[in-house]
Amino acid sequence: MDTLQINSERLWRRIDELAQVGAIADTNGCSRLALTDEDREGRNLVITWMEDLGMEIAIDGVGNVVGTWFGNSTDKSLPLVMTGSHIDTVRTGGRFDGNLGVLAGLEVVETLAENGISPLHPIAVGFFTGEEGARFAPDMLGSLVYVGGMSLESTLDIEGIDGKRLGDELERIGFRGAAPCPGPIPKAFIELHVEQGPILEADATSIGAVDSVQGISWTEITIEGQSNHAGTTPMHMRHDAGFAAAQIATFVRQIALETGGNQVGTVGKIDLHPNLVNVVASKAVITVDLRNTDDEVLQHAESQLHEFCKALSERENVEITSKILARFEPVTFAQELVAEVTKAAESLGLSVQQMTSGAGHDAQMFARVCPTAMIFVPSEGGLSHNPAEFTSQEQIKDGANVLLQVLIQLAEEQNE
Ligand code: GLV
Ligand code: MN
Ligand code: MN
Repeated sequence: MDTLQINSERLWRRIDELAQVGAIADTNGCSRLALTDEDREGRNLVITWMEDLGMEIAIDGVGNVVGTWFGNSTDKSLPLVMTGSHIDTVRTGGRFDGNLGVLAGLEVVETLAENGISPLHPIAVGFFTGEEGARFAPDMLGSLVYVGGMSLESTLDIEGIDGKRLGDELERIGFRGAAPCPGPIPKAFIELHVEQGPILEADATSIGAVDSVQGISWTEITIEGQSNHAGTTPMHMRHDAGFAAAQIATFVRQIALETGGNQVGTVGKIDLHPNLVNVVASKAVITVDLRNTDDEVLQHAESQLHEFCKALSERENVEITSKILARFEPVTFAQELVAEVTKAAESLGLSVQQMTSGAGHDAQMFARVCPTAMIFVPSEGGLSHNPAEFTSQEQIKDGANVLLQVLIQLAEEQNE
């Protein structure tokens, strides 16, 4: 069984086919923000593949889709061994982020099926709604609801960046399912993902055995000033929301640099009103993304930002309010499962290293309810959330073969 291999041509083809949905012209990337028409089309395509594999499909109240493969098993009561990820993307996304984990899961099922291998536990492949958080915050919201971390009712009421209500968009694309939230707790959860950072490539390592995910803090800050004439308003008489937003963006960079270590800080979105060349901005809405592996350090960065905004508001005569969009503590994965990933990689002759994840993942939600770990494969140039994101077919084959081995191991183990 050790020599069983996934079909990397088939996996590569499916990645390419899914990437045609919402493809960004003249790039390899795609744009499938959660619950848009493109997301619906991508979902339907993946469900077709699940059905072709004879998987049982369950769609829950927040649109998470879980396909379960029972093989020849007649005992449907055994807990699922689950893999998967997400197929929504940021607006200017790559073709691998999330999609790889879902399609590699299907590839594992197909490999087992065509080789007549039917493990004891059913294997489930899920794709979870709105992992990116780019349209509806927080990120990982589908998996968060799946594990019971947020109520379905409050999730359906989340407003997107376009003012649309999540529940309405879910209905509109036909993915408000009947399966219960929270969903059945898996025996274990294992997710294959591209690293989205530079470490594996720099270390010339094929596989990351991910043992943790750093903490994530997202804040939306709204600054209310006063619009006025750009030519006639003396500098000392301005209530300039645009300037205040720029000050916050600069301060976020300063926090990250002064904190050092692995502290990162990003202002990825600034909306100015009325956004005109000759008008002092009356309003600015900006987002701040702060992350750290140490929650105490992250909390300190958050309070520095808060203090800065308070002082800025007084100095610039603007009103500043803030709203938390997402807040997740750092997560540690199950050591025995991380060891399983390491062992599988080594048994395939692949170099492997234990590492933390800089990006958020559905797996970090599953870690709340069951043994969980992740498998990383390298990202060229450390590039992600960019249409140019790239991982080679060979590297993907290696990662999917590790996933195959770990899933076989988990699905064959007797229940404790
Ligand atoms: C999800 O992709 C995140 O880490 O922002
Ligand atoms: Mn992802
Ligand atoms: Mn992403």
